[in-house]
Amino acid sequence: MKRILVTGGCGFIGSVFIRQELETYPELSIVNLDKLTYAGNLENLADLHGEPRYEFQRGDIADAGFVNELIGKGGFDAVVNFAAESHVDRSLLDSGPFVRTNIVGTQVLLDAARAAAVPRFLQVSTDEVYGSLGPTGLFTEDTPINPNSPYSASKASADLLVKSYNHSFGFPALITRCSNNYGPYQFPEKLIPLFISNALGDQPLPIYGAGTNVRDWIHVTDHCRGIDAVLRRGRLGEVYNLGGHNEKTNLEITYLLLELLDKPHSLIKYVSDRPGHDLRYAIDSTKAETELGWKPRVNFQQGLRETIDWYRGNADWVARIKSGAYLRYYEQQYGKRLHEDQAAHR
Ligand code: NAD
Ligand code: TYD
Repeated sequence: MKRILVTGGCGFIGSVFIRQELETYPELSIVNLDKLTYAGNLENLADLHGEPRYEFQRGDIADAGFVNELIGKGGFDAVVNFAAESHVDRSLLDSGPFVRTNIVGTQVLLDAARAAAVPRFLQVSTDEVYGSLGPTGLFTEDTPINPNSPYSASKASADLLVKSYNHSFGFPALITRCSNNYGPYQFPEKLIPLFISNALGDQPLPIYGAGTNVRDWIHVTDHCRGIDAVLRRGRLGEVYNLGGHNEKTNLEITYLLLELLDKPHSLIKYVSDRPGHDLRYAIDSTKAETELGWKPRVNFQQGLRETIDWYRGNADWVARIKSGAYLRYYEQQYGKRLHEDQAAHR
């Protein structure tokens, strides 16, 4: 594999994936296609400026003209689609962008990749497509899709499109479904980075409902190693679950964070529950572990400590991304480069 297109590479997980891939494979070059929504931040890959194996293209995956041209001329050995609207709470306020990016955007990418005969297409999906578990049991790849939020419904729709292209056209696609990620560079709207940054500023930590909902947490670098394993060694047409073997209630996470941050429990604030809040997610990743030899490696307490240190050391990043000033900051720092990147495309 010599040249890949990564979409959504300026977000949390995509940026880690791009850095890991370039570090691991010296012959690989990557084009990063990102719209730079509120969640996309060029700062996340600022260390790659000047790297000849990395190219940024600003664009929308739902823009068929642009995507067809990029993929048609790109000579890509693979497409890895991270680009998405990714936050459940936002999808409850307005599902429009979720349908446009997550469903239409995926369809546009699939058509362009099919027309260009791209040999591998990996759709980065989520365990949330399976819906909610009761107190016991695990999601396997055979668990029926049963999404509950507009976010998970849009991701499930995209998965079904990907599967249909594989089934109908023999399109060489793979799907990964991962559990909740944590680590540096995560937008401070999701549970862990929001609670770390609020606690650092002695602001309340808003727990939805009773805090008894369960998520399976995995470090973002383990997720990205799993995507790499599936991309290179996964069987075409297959789904692979990736999980952290690390189930925690939201209250357990909150107490642990407060302990590691040395902050009082009085910061906890119980607020109204999220509408339709999924009770529990838990992943069986036996298939990826046995077929691909992948396993999560990062110890949760250690990973959380390092994540806290990162947010402590990057208060400016958090302030900029929260206020929406990150693009202006980036242009001040690297303005010429961004201008050139865009000119190269338009
Ligand atoms: P994120 O919100 O941090 O980043 C999303 C990126 O996609 C941003 O850079 C944004 O600018 C870009 N983007 C959005 N719409 C676009 C469009 N129309 N065209 C081009 N780029 C666009 O998301 P994340 O947490 O890094 O998640 C990445 C992927 O992983 C998503 O597909 C998500 O569904 C999936 N996933 C996330 C988690 C998690 O815990 N965060 C878990 C499992 C799966
Ligand atoms: P989140 O990080 O939004 O991920 P997801 O909903 O995709 O799993 O939320 C993780 C859990 O934390 C979920 O059960 C909702 C809960 N939560 C809160 O209790 N308070 C918050 O402010 C947020 C953002 C999430």
